Amino acid sequence: MLTRLDLHKMKQNNDKITMITAYDYPSAKSAEAAGIEMILVGDSLGMVVLGYSSTVQVTLEDMIHHGRAVKRGAPNTFTVIDMPFMSYHVSLEESLTNAREIFQKTDAQALKVEGATEETLHLIRRLSDAGIPVVAHLGLTPQTVNVLGGYKVQGKDKVAAEKLLKEAKQVAECGAISVVLECVPKELAEIITNHIAIPTIGIGAGINCDGQVLVYHDILEYGVDRLPKFVKSYANINETSVAAIKAYISEVKEELFPLDKHSFISKDKEILPNLK
Ligand code: KIV
Ligand code: NA
Repeated sequence: MLTRLDLHKMKQNNDKITMITAYDYPSAKSAEAAGIEMILVGDSLGMVVLGYSSTVQVTLEDMIHHGRAVKRGAPNTFTVIDMPFMSYHVSLEESLTNAREIFQKTDAQALKVEGATEETLHLIRRLSDAGIPVVAHLGLTPQTVNVLGGYKVQGKDKVAAEKLLKEAKQVAECGAISVVLECVPKELAEIITNHIAIPTIGIGAGINCDGQVLVYHDILEYGVDRLPKFVKSYANINETSVAAIKAYISEVKEELFPLDKHSFISKDKEILPNLK
């Protein structure tokens, strides 16, 4: 299992860190079989596997339920779990209780929180001190999409760029083990990467981050119809699965399935009920 020290070494050696989201047993199993270094149980699960319109509807119970399934599928892969919307913004006490609950019940290796408000920085420090590693998440932070005014590139002017760099330094100082940078101009992500000691993991943040993360269902085109600009698709499960299900439907209709090799055949016809 990867450790914080491995992450640090990978940054120093420019050995790119690979991360993908997973939400259930089969996706986690595939990710581990492929040799991914880190799995994120993202609250994007609300959209990609539960069909919600944003991450705002995702609950603590959802994260625990899916997190446990992922750990069963990828017991040997470093797994980070998102703290969901409003589970770390009410009071420090409640945030710590919620973090402990997710961490203990899922057997995860780290938790992720969005933003760098004073409260969140304080939480990152408290969790790190208590032994719960934290991954920070800056730039486009989907849980506050309703305040940001949409899914847009962040850090686009001088003030916003300075603020983002400052926040990245702050989360590192507070003990975060890594920071996800989402939808940030490539050049700004490079500057941030070069100015902080912890690895940056980019999504829509260019090639110069220390690592990359993408959503499982996006790179496989699985259940999603529209891909954001920063996604590259590596397969098309939508097409494969619709074609396969169509073939199944037509073979059933045409009585081409099931064949005898898919059936249990009675060896002794004498034992069958006699309807005479
Ligand atoms: O929830 C998620 O999938 C994420 C990644 C996009 C970084 O937070
Ligand atoms: Na997320």
